[in-house]
Amino acid sequence: MADFRTFFAKAKHIVIISGAGVSAESGVPTFRGAGGYWRKWQAQDLATPQAFAHNPSRVWEFYHYRREVVRTKEPNPGHLAIAECEARLGRQGRRVMVITQNIDELHRKAGTKNLLEIHGSLFKTRCTSCGVVAENYKSPICPALSGTGAPEPETQEARIPVEKLPRCCGGIILSHLAWLSLPLQPQIYLNLCKPRVHCSVLALQVGTSSVVYPAAMFAPQVSARGVPVAEFNMETTPATNRFRFHFQGPCGSTLPEALARHENETVS
Ligand code: APR
Repeated sequence: MADFRTFFAKAKHIVIISGAGVSAESGVPTFRGAGGYWRKWQAQDLATPQAFAHNPSRVWEFYHYRREVVRTKEPNPGHLAIAECEARLGRQGRRVMVITQNIDELHRKAGTKNLLEIHGSLFKTRCTSCGVVAENYKSPICPALSGTGAPEPETQEARIPVEKLPRCCGGIILSHLAWLSLPLQPQIYLNLCKPRVHCSVLALQVGTSSVVYPAAMFAPQVSARGVPVAEFNMETTPATNRFRFHFQGPCGSTLPEALARHENETVS
């Protein structure tokens, strides 16, 4: 930790890549491992265009469930440490950029400003007909979804007719999320993430299993260029041995220690 803190005290551009683990201590289930199922499906089985075309009512029940779970959650000390560090270093003329795979908006709720939500947000919608993207925090998002979405495998499906699902100009609206069966739009990676990742002089890989691309390749790429990378995770991942630092444990405890004010912090 002392070694990491030496790099941290001087770094001008820090990129933080986060995944579901950063929200685990807020009570948001992670994707992999226990708790990754809704009824008998994993998110990867439902957040696909094929699943939506086959059964839009089921996919909306799933998104409705996730919106209702997440809306009650609050940022934990890990999110707050990141937001506080971004604001503090910003006042010193230094930059922290957060690239998250999370769709729960908890980084935003914690106050993080330099944020890319590369998989979208549960609280944005996109119309399948006119393409308009809009914020939507309604609960429920439409009357027909009220009382639906229970995650237990034996739950009866709601089988909502398509005309009663959330709509915009006549088309159904969907949560504005990356489909998990398709690659992320190349412009998100090339125009937004790549320049920010590649100008960093220190990278943090927080609460991600490091198996979903393109986010999984950012930190190994900068590490190969000699940039120190610190992984914060409950366990090791396929990328761990490519990084200089690994802090094992709940990031709600490890991040506040790692990102606290350093006595030698650079003030420009
Ligand atoms: N602190 C730190 N790490 C944690 C904590 C915690 N409190 N709790 C869990 N973790 C770690 C787990 O050990 C695991 O490595 O967080 C990671 C969560 O992994 P995933 O569930 O695979 O989440 P993520 O890496 O964000 O998944 C990437 O996969 O299905 C897609 O689009 C979905 O954005 C998601 C993407």
